[in-house]
This record gives sequence, C-alpha cells and structure tokens, in this order.
Amino acid sequence: MVFDSDSIASPIEAEPPHHKPETSQRCRRFLREGLGRGEALLDVGCGDGELLEVLKRQGGFDKVFGLEIDPELTRVCHQRGLFVIRGRAEAIPLASASLDAVVCSVVIPYTDSRRAIREWSRILKPGGLVHATYHGWGFGWDYLLHGAHFKKRFYGLRMLVNSVVYDWSGRRLPGFLGDTLCQSAKRLRLIYDSCGLTLEREEVIETVAGAPRFLGHRLRKTKIG
Ligand SMILES: C[S@@+](CC[C@H](N)C(=O)[O-])C[C@H]1O[C@@H](n2cnc3c(N)ncnc32)[C@H](O)[C@@H]1O
Repeated sequence: MVFDSDSIASPIEAEPPHHKPETSQRCRRFLREGLGRGEALLDVGCGDGELLEVLKRQGGFDKVFGLEIDPELTRVCHQRGLFVIRGRAEAIPLASASLDAVVCSVVIPYTDSRRAIREWSRILKPGGLVHATYHGWGFGWDYLLHGAHFKKRFYGLRMLVNSVVYDWSGRRLPGFLGDTLCQSAKRLRLIYDSCGLTLEREEVIETVAGAPRFLGHRLRKTKIG
C-alpha cells in the first residue's frame, strides 16, 4: 500500500548516529559561502535560527529572514531577535521574483519536495541563488549500520526502503513509514530542470557505505518558471 502524495515528515528522529562536528561545519560552510550580495535572503525551514543568525551577521543582504513551520521554533527565533515567518516550504507567503537568495539546510526530506523546490524558483529573481543541503543515501545507511539502538536502525531501514519505493513508484510508503526520503542528485535534477533551476555546483559532504551522507547543491534560477 502506498501514499498518494509526496508528503510530510517529522524530523524528530533525525539525530545522526555519528555526529561529526567537522561534517556540520562543512555543511554550514557550503551553505553560507559564495552567496554574494543582494536585497533579500530567506532561510527556508530555519529551525531554531542558528544558521540564520550567522547569515545575518555575515552581511551582504539588506534583509535576512527565515520561514519555519514549527510554532515553538519560530518563537525561539523571535526570542533571538530574528525575523521569521511561520509557514510551509510548499506555499511560501512571499511574492514571486522577490528574493535574491534562498538557503535551505536539510529541510526538503520532510516536505513535498517537488512543491517546495518549485517555490524556491517562484520566489527568486532571475539569476537568484539557492544553497541547499540534503540527506543522501549514506544518511539512511548511517542509521541502519551504526544506530545505537533498534529504533535508530529501524529509522534508517524505513528511510532507505521508502526511498527505493519512491524512486520505483513515485509514491511514499503509508503513514510514518514514508515520512522521510534520502535524496539523490538524479531525482533532484529532474525537479530542478522542471522549474528553471540550474545546478552549478554539487558537493558530497561525507560518505557512508560509499553513498553521500549529505549532498550540497548550489543552484541558479536561469529561466522564468
Ligand atoms: C532537520 S531540521 C533543520 C533545521 C535548520 N535548517 C538547520 O539546519 O539547523 C528541519 C527543519 O525543517 C522544518 N520543516 C519541516 N517541514 C517543513 C515544511 N513543510 N515547511 C517549513 N519548514 C519545515 C522543521 O520544523 C525543522 O525546523
């Protein structure tokens, strides 16, 4: 039995078994470097605002703000003095062609990925940039092979099985079984092509069992979607 929609997950269990500070630092560096300058930058799914704060300090943009679905995390961001809108990555409440850059750090696996990525393209001005990181297949393998207890290993297993089913059928497993996907460059490129985003740079950030644990993509809006 499969789901009809490419739908939503909870990131609650996404504590990686092998937390390496250098991996997080590489992901953060990939996201924040080379963004250039402009009027407005949005961090989609900004969580508690840690990266958003860094981006704000870094400068280069007149407005640096976030979007977050979780009310508690949105509140934490507000307490940190950050400007964060509550909303969904799949329906961003901003005008078309209004932003110069979008940053998105490991959020797409929990969303309806096609709709969320199409939204980046819609809100960006032509020539605008996206810096995104994703969980690759190695992320699922990491949980399955190295998870400290049964629940973590099961999380890895369902992530991998769900990704195979999704690639094969275009649909997720039912309920919580289908709540998160490993991303592949091949699948992402099809979405980018369909919405006028060009992949300019890919970085594999750590591998597990020969597969990317994290994938970093830098994209440019090249066509009007
Ligand atoms: C793994 S956390 C990453 C948080 C932050 N980007 C970071 O790297 O620290 C995923 C975040 O995406 C948010 N999220 C999940 N689904 C979302 C959706 N459909 N729209 C907007 N945010 C979403 C979660 O609430 C959570 O804050």
